[in-house]
Amino acid sequence: MYKKLYILALLAVTFTACTKDKTYIASPEDYELDRLLLQHGGKDNYILPDTDDYGLIPQDPENPLSKAKADLGKLLFYETGLALAPLHSLGEGTYSCATCHVPSAGFRPGSPQGIADGGLGFGDNGEGRFKNNIYADHEPDVQSVRPLSVLNVAFVTNTTWNGRFGSTGLNEGTEALWNHEDGSEINHLGLRGLEGQNIEGLDIHRMVINKNVLDNLNYTPLFDEAFGDMPEPDRYSPLAASFALSAYLRTLLTNEAPFQNWLKGDRAAMTDQEKRGAVLFFSKANCSTCHSGKSLNGDNFYSLGVDDLHKTGALNTNSEDPANLGRASFTGLEEDRYKFKVPQLYNLGDAPFYFHGASKETLEEVVEYFNEAIPENFDVPSAQISSGFKPLNLSELEKADLVAFLKNALSDPNLDRYVPESVLSGNCFPNNDPFSQADLDCN
Ligand code: HEC
Ligand code: HEC
Repeated sequence: MYKKLYILALLAVTFTACTKDKTYIASPEDYELDRLLLQHGGKDNYILPDTDDYGLIPQDPENPLSKAKADLGKLLFYETGLALAPLHSLGEGTYSCATCHVPSAGFRPGSPQGIADGGLGFGDNGEGRFKNNIYADHEPDVQSVRPLSVLNVAFVTNTTWNGRFGSTGLNEGTEALWNHEDGSEINHLGLRGLEGQNIEGLDIHRMVINKNVLDNLNYTPLFDEAFGDMPEPDRYSPLAASFALSAYLRTLLTNEAPFQNWLKGDRAAMTDQEKRGAVLFFSKANCSTCHSGKSLNGDNFYSLGVDDLHKTGALNTNSEDPANLGRASFTGLEEDRYKFKVPQLYNLGDAPFYFHGASKETLEEVVEYFNEAIPENFDVPSAQISSGFKPLNLSELEKADLVAFLKNALSDPNLDRYVPESVLSGNCFPNNDPFSQADLDCN
């Protein structure tokens, strides 16, 4: 059976190689990767949709994708003018969603912990943000886990590290747990994870959406265009804003990464080293048992025994923080303790912090951690550690190959296409405090 498929694959490869690029001859690495991907359900399983191919992008039936919504979300995500509920008035108008999801940092912060309200500065890549001394340690808008990237989030069923948002997927049957404290109450609206979470997110991140605010910032006509079929009381609400933000986030696809181009037939898009890394990813290194599908993420929760965020000296969290329990902080189940969601793997080279507690600062360290499979967090009982986390016996060359695949082949070089030229308030973005204005050359 496999032999037959292999021959078919060879034929397919030769064919695409000839049509795409007459001079390029497929290498043994190409054939091996073809064979492995066939075993993993075929290349289509891994090809991300085009950014404007709304028919192929997963979406919420309550919020069908449209260009008007995605274009509006592309402004709101960066709009510092919505920062109208800061804890201290000097924070007003200074932060946005992109303060913690910085595009040039792979839509993560450039530091272990994101700081929105209560932070100052940007640096070159979000790494220069620090706490404003006017705010007490517990006051800034910070979370107890490292911000997840929002790249390829259309392929996430239950959002956040503990997966509490969304009424479908693994959250089916968890209705009794949906509560006000962690925001999961919003699941009662029956929305997908993204649509629900972003309603909460606007509130948690101290932003205000109402008719008055939208009028002042000139957004009302755009809401009318995107949500003309919504009754007026809903149209200028956090729900509509969440629908626009979610539509935009669903289009944030890393479909120009070298691995994506290779999957679509450009055999020369990856180096031989990156191809060898990809082969390891789908075979000896076992990565694909947990990281699968188009964004190389997973819907399940596992414990790898990594350290929590307080170890980095992050604000407002400590060793007793319930967030350290991962999925169990939502379900309360003994068996879910210390288990975290499998994140997507694109554009990880853009910001040097990995795992929910930002405990690793290079991809070399991450690969070494998987290779040795020795848990670093002594709070996690060994019975909780995933059985898939086991020594890999990779050679130095193999480790370097795997890193090359992760760092280069999974990196979309053109994320700028997802960033607007300006926002309607005319404010500086993604941050608008005096230090950020200087860092971002806004004046
Ligand atoms: C203060 C920093 C901060 C700000 C501001 C912020 N986020 Fe986040 N974001 C995070 C953190 C931290 C997580 C992970 C949360 C968790 O696991 O509990 C996250 C997770 C997410 C996720 C889930 C991704 C996934 O794969 O599950 C989405 C979607 C998201 N944020 C969207 C937004 C939107 C939209 C805004 C603006 C309304 C926003 N964020 C503002 C820090 C921030
Ligand atoms: C048993 C399932 C499993 C296997 C096998 C696995 N991973 Fe993961 N991976 C996870 C989980 C779960 C996380 C998040 C853990 C956490 O932060 O607590 C993760 C996180 C990561 C991260 C950090 C991403 C980020 O945004 O912080 C990278 C990189 C990564 N994995 C790469 C790999 C590679 C490379 C392999 C193969 C050598 C691999 N993984 C094998 C489950 C797995």
